[in-house]
Amino acid sequence: MKSTHHCAQLTKSDLGSTVSLLGWVDSLRDHGGILFVDLRDRKGITQVKFDPHSNKELAAQAAHLKPESVIGVTGKIVPRPEGTINASLPTGEIEVDATQLTIHNLSDTPPFPLDDAGGDKVNEDLRLTYRYLDLRRPKMRKNLQVRHKAAKSIRDYFDSQEFIEVETPALFKSTPEGAREYLVPSRIHPGQFYALSQSPQQFKQILMVAGVERYFQIARCFRDEDLRADRQMEFTQVDVEASFIDREGIYSLFEGMLKKLWKDVLGTDLPTPFPRMAFVDAMNRFGVDKPDVRFGLELVDLTETFRTSSFKVFQATVAGGGVIKAINAKGLADLTQGELKNLEDIAKSLGAKGLAFIKVEGGEWKSPIVKFFSESEKAALTQQLGMAEGDIVFFAAAPWEKACAILGRIRLEAAALLQKRGKMTIRHDDWKFLWVVDFPLMSHDEAENRYVATHHPFTAPVPEDAALLDSDPKKVRGQHYDVVLNGMELGGGSIRIHQPALQKKVFEDVLKIPADVVESRFGYMLKAFTYGAPPHGGIAFGLDRMVALLCGTTSIRDVIAFPKTQKGQDLMAQSPTPVTERQLKDLHIQTVMPE
Ligand code: AMO
Ligand code: AMP
Repeated sequence: MKSTHHCAQLTKSDLGSTVSLLGWVDSLRDHGGILFVDLRDRKGITQVKFDPHSNKELAAQAAHLKPESVIGVTGKIVPRPEGTINASLPTGEIEVDATQLTIHNLSDTPPFPLDDAGGDKVNEDLRLTYRYLDLRRPKMRKNLQVRHKAAKSIRDYFDSQEFIEVETPALFKSTPEGAREYLVPSRIHPGQFYALSQSPQQFKQILMVAGVERYFQIARCFRDEDLRADRQMEFTQVDVEASFIDREGIYSLFEGMLKKLWKDVLGTDLPTPFPRMAFVDAMNRFGVDKPDVRFGLELVDLTETFRTSSFKVFQATVAGGGVIKAINAKGLADLTQGELKNLEDIAKSLGAKGLAFIKVEGGEWKSPIVKFFSESEKAALTQQLGMAEGDIVFFAAAPWEKACAILGRIRLEAAALLQKRGKMTIRHDDWKFLWVVDFPLMSHDEAENRYVATHHPFTAPVPEDAALLDSDPKKVRGQHYDVVLNGMELGGGSIRIHQPALQKKVFEDVLKIPADVVESRFGYMLKAFTYGAPPHGGIAFGLDRMVALLCGTTSIRDVIAFPKTQKGQDLMAQSPTPVTERQLKDLHIQTVMPE
């Protein structure tokens, strides 16, 4: 069972030689009794001919073949007849005139077509149930190759920068400050649990105390989050930490990594350094902390315009400390009732009371609210929003963060509608990288009425702001940075607190975690820091998200060999499943089913 060549290798220069190939039957065609098989392996396709005129028995054997069967073929390389040459295949000028056939396995008829176009049309659940067939599709095969190439490029880069890869435990302890965790019961310690690591955050900081200085890891992380196109419960981080590094050092190190990655995988030269944008500007201009800056439609602030308006809804919002923001979706006045309703529903799902709008059609403003506006307000709107025929302007009146979030989302929806109409072009390979910086260190959790860490509790404050930690924590900026690409958060990290006293203060005085809880959760870390912790900082990138963008897909499920569905299920192996009473007993666990 040996091949002499792979299926993308043979050309005219091999004419006359005898070869053996192994692979899958990609397709079968019968031309007046002569059977043509496209034989496929991981590299490509070679055409094989079974001709009853030269070997009747062999042709009869080949007639049993079905698509996706696995065969071995021996034969002679012959030129394809004039007019049957396929210029789009590297092997398109030759074919193998078969003299021998071994059928290793016949295949049942696959439940969906395994070409790119056919597979894209079927339900994703079906593809995931038969993932081994889905992965035979050229596109999916390529995605796995890109993922491998990306991981190799990244490892080579960090190796060249003298970073070492260190593995950290997946079984960690529960520290419920971050995302929701997966718990793992201990058999040996009844009633006690491990938590699957959300990220190697604490271990990588401990590695800095251990004097490793330059650590990286391509690390599996686990978070019990609601799944989306860019979120899986189990995902992979490119996780990095370095000692004696500041923010500028981080920016250039990771611009280097991304530059090499894009060059190695796509052959693209990324311009560096990447632009930087303060969190406040990202929110004010784009309504999110991960702005897609490939297109405009920026948010405009109208708070001052409406401060003394006779339109009560806007005036009252401003009086209550809120803001009025708007975006001009240029050229979208032709949106349908259904599309408008959908935008309203989206705004409402984000807490908006409604979605006020003005359409400019036939030289007139069509709007449910314009009757409340004074002439000077109308003039201000025209000027500030650059309103012209065919435009539609959307408004949000709400507290600052909510108004930004609502219009940030409407902006993306409007761009999608404009693209659908051919009025806007957004290219997936228009790579607009961005560092988003100057995040607030703390955010206020209204529900719990306490401060929570915006990134995580280990992030150091910007030195100039540290004095405000006691008096006005909300004003303190963190030394936190995110890398954003085309609307997706690729990575995030920070310079860390390395002084045990400051870390303790953040836990106890700012985050208001009781001292005994701090001790039981983070005591070991605080202790480690008393033995000479170097200044340090790092970052983690979502490998799945990077590879998805490199592959030009929006779903990370397309670049994970065996992803879970939105409902957290593995449809192929069928998990999760119930376990036996015996297993539960061994783990000292009783289950209580929901009503
Ligand atoms: P953070 O929580 O921001 O930071 O995660 C870093 C990056 O990991 C990716 N990511 C995910 N990808 C797929 N599915 C998920 N559920 C998911 N969650 C996160 C994102 C994100 O930018 N320890 C810190 C990093 C640090 O401070 O060094 C951390 O985990 O691309
Ligand atoms: P998020 O809450 O999604 O903004 O991300 C903050 C991330 O910081 C968490 O998801 C973890 O990756 C990390 N993090 C926060 N608190 C802890 C903690 N106590 N232990 C380990 N990692 C943490």
